[in-house]
Amino acid sequence: MSQIQIIGGNRLSGHLRMSGAKNSLLPIMTACLMVRGTVYLHDVPKLTDLNQMLHILADLGCTVNQRGATVKIDVDELYTHIIDRQAAPKIRGSIFVMGALLARLGKVELPFPGGCAIGSRPIDLHLTLLRQIGVKCHCHGDTITAAYQPKPHRKPTVLCLDFPSVGATENIIQATALGIAGNTYIIHGVAKEPEVVDLCHFLNQCGAQIHGAGTDTITVHSVTQLHGTTYTPIPDRINTGSYLIAVAATGGDVTLTNTVPVHQINLLNKLKMLGAKITTTKDTIHIIMNRRHAAHFNVHTAPYPGFPTDLQSQFCVLTTLIKGHSIITENLFENRFRYVPELIKLGAKITVTGNQAQITSVPALSATPTPNLCPSSYHIPDPQSCTGTTITAHDLRGGVALVIAALTASGTTTIEHADYIYRGHEDIVKDLRQLGANIVALV
Ligand code: EPZ
Repeated sequence: MSQIQIIGGNRLSGHLRMSGAKNSLLPIMTACLMVRGTVYLHDVPKLTDLNQMLHILADLGCTVNQRGATVKIDVDELYTHIIDRQAAPKIRGSIFVMGALLARLGKVELPFPGGCAIGSRPIDLHLTLLRQIGVKCHCHGDTITAAYQPKPHRKPTVLCLDFPSVGATENIIQATALGIAGNTYIIHGVAKEPEVVDLCHFLNQCGAQIHGAGTDTITVHSVTQLHGTTYTPIPDRINTGSYLIAVAATGGDVTLTNTVPVHQINLLNKLKMLGAKITTTKDTIHIIMNRRHAAHFNVHTAPYPGFPTDLQSQFCVLTTLIKGHSIITENLFENRFRYVPELIKLGAKITVTGNQAQITSVPALSATPTPNLCPSSYHIPDPQSCTGTTITAHDLRGGVALVIAALTASGTTTIEHADYIYRGHEDIVKDLRQLGANIVALV
């Protein structure tokens, strides 16, 4: 597994452009399976999770070509309804293939999905909704098989999610968007995340008839075919938030471009409470952080537009440095504090009880002092001579939190298992070096 090494203490400054959202592109890529024709996707970052998904599509019969940040997906006939057993368990997004293949082929066989180990990641909400529209689903061992023969119906089918699950919403939208003309599905209690809205925009651009995206109720009028299109996904709001928090932690002056500020309202307001000067335009966010104010946060993660669980670990790092006492309650996933023991190695004062972290601020985080740097390098420590502190990433967002902590810690921090970070960041080392961080990737 690769490593990242950081000598902390540098303020961040400059410009950085955000790329397309991983959590939009995963369901949009599975939705391509429902299309007859060619789809061009722009602003596609080279992420390991997206590469796994493109492999799954190719294995099913799609022709996939990536040139720079543009991916061309040709979908004519699909070879099979059975999902690649190597790739599928590596990503959570593989579960989205269910809805698409049931709509396209009427059958699917796939292993249980993977994803970051932040909880049990069940799929009961997905299967319940699919069964309620008539899908026959069976789970045997670690394999799911499902078959679906939609029947015409005069009255709308009305569904309601027990919880606004992002993935379950995206699956049922795909399963109902392509089917028998005249069939209507009214789905209450859906997820309102921008990535769900993005999927609906993409499908409507392919000829679907989906209304209400971004509200509590989505109405789908099934259509009998979907055509190709060219689409650019929304910018990655979680990576945008991670970089904003990094600047708030290190201090600095950074402009992020290709953003959607309205997706960050919850976080931006918290950063302003801390003394950050933030100005936004339609697609940029400029943050200046000089003197951090004291603050006591009581953060509860929640479905959108609440505070995103995917920024919980990064924000926790920031609260360790804010004068005062903060509480973070994780309401979405049952195992999302695995980064805490790693922060404690850098001197953080955090106690976790159940799904709640109590944070007492410290003047600074610190790794062991750094021995002499290689004189000729760009202040890149000579790995042989460095001691410092080594910490371990356990998942994507927790790994990003460790990077932010290392950026603020004095001394050299080495982060192991950095591969997790590349699931959601094409090149976090290049990005942060561009902003002035003293950071290097070690294989
Ligand atoms: C999506 O995961 C995202 N992943 C996650 O981002 C994100 O944290 C999550 O939504 C919440 O916003 C992708 O889009 C690929 P959920 P998903 O279904 O769909 C429970 C990242 O770092 N649940 O909204 O799996 C579940 O256990 C990742 O980019 C069931 O109980 O999330 C969790 O407690 C991490 N049964 C809660 O709902 C189900 O059938 C939210 O899950 C499905 C979910």
